[in-house]
Amino acid sequence: MKTRIVGTGNYLPDNVLTNDDLSKMVDTSDEWIRTRTGICQRRIAKEDTTYSMGAGAAKEALKQAEIAGEEIDLIIVATSSAEYAFPNTASLIQSEIGAKHALCFDVSVACTGFIVAMSIADSMMCTGNYRKALVIGSEVLSSQLDWSDRSVCVLFGDGAGAVVMENSESDGCGLIDQEIHSDGNKGMVLTCGKNTADRITADGTLRTNQTIQMNGQEVFKFAVKKVPESIQTLLDRNHLSAEDVDYYILHQANKRIIESVAKRLHVSIEKFPMNLDRYGNTSAASIPILLHELSREHILKPGNLVILSGFGGGLSWGSLLIRL
Ligand code: ACO
Repeated sequence: MKTRIVGTGNYLPDNVLTNDDLSKMVDTSDEWIRTRTGICQRRIAKEDTTYSMGAGAAKEALKQAEIAGEEIDLIIVATSSAEYAFPNTASLIQSEIGAKHALCFDVSVACTGFIVAMSIADSMMCTGNYRKALVIGSEVLSSQLDWSDRSVCVLFGDGAGAVVMENSESDGCGLIDQEIHSDGNKGMVLTCGKNTADRITADGTLRTNQTIQMNGQEVFKFAVKKVPESIQTLLDRNHLSAEDVDYYILHQANKRIIESVAKRLHVSIEKFPMNLDRYGNTSAASIPILLHELSREHILKPGNLVILSGFGGGLSWGSLLIRL
């Protein structure tokens, strides 16, 4: 038995923050941000929350799949920006969509979260105990940014994406193979601190607002090494050439990272769709947001072979090979 994607959805807040807007807030420029990252603008949540956006994306995915909330028996949300430690985001979404039979939980694996969440859903569904799942990535990272730190605040944005997964007997379609890793030894190069050591500042006061801190160059080096390695492992294990894959749907962190991965795999950049110019880095939400755009525009077609790859905090990285 395999699990396959039968619906996609996304939700982006209306509020747009352009590079020019940012250049009025910190010492930066549209030119610097575009050339170093490929980002032109991002969406910033005002009224929207992690669970309201997740619910919006979920409703769209359910509509596309023509499945009612009541039929869903598993909801997994990948997020690093949940409103509550408990109830978890998945349970809040459950209530919004009437998925009263679903088991609900969140996973926290930063920008690799959606890949891990799909992998967990696949494993649970293959037991036969769960038949229809919603896997959601939703982030309000704007709440975790130091808006005076130009090296980080220009990179991120808010949004949510979702897929409906279903058990499938259909020939060859579905999640074929996966490979996912963590390296806690390098964890401190990308953090959003809530630990006690971080909470006390040098003058002994309690820090209330924990923000994303990053060694950008270390993250860059890690991503351009580990993502192609992970993809190549999947290709080799499944006797595929890089050309056999129709699309590589990567976490949308930085255009230069994606270009470097394409180059290392000797694959045309045309096979690496991007939308980070419009949304920035939406962490666990970036892959399902892009999946839905490609599906809505009929760029992705039934039978396509795709690889989804995520990478980020942990450090963590991983890829899924899927026949749509
Ligand atoms: N505007 C203008 N200047 C800036 C900005 C900015 N927003 N940010 C940094 N600078 C300056 C620095 O101060 C530095 O100035 P100096 O030379 O006078 O000291 C100069 O630009 C170069 O800074 P670097 O950090 O060396 O710039 P780099 O070329 O490495 O680009 C970047 C920085 C874009 C962050 C890059 O390292 C990168 O893309 N790293 C990967 C980060 C990433 O994608 N993280 C998220 C992935 S994981 C996840 O999604 C959670």
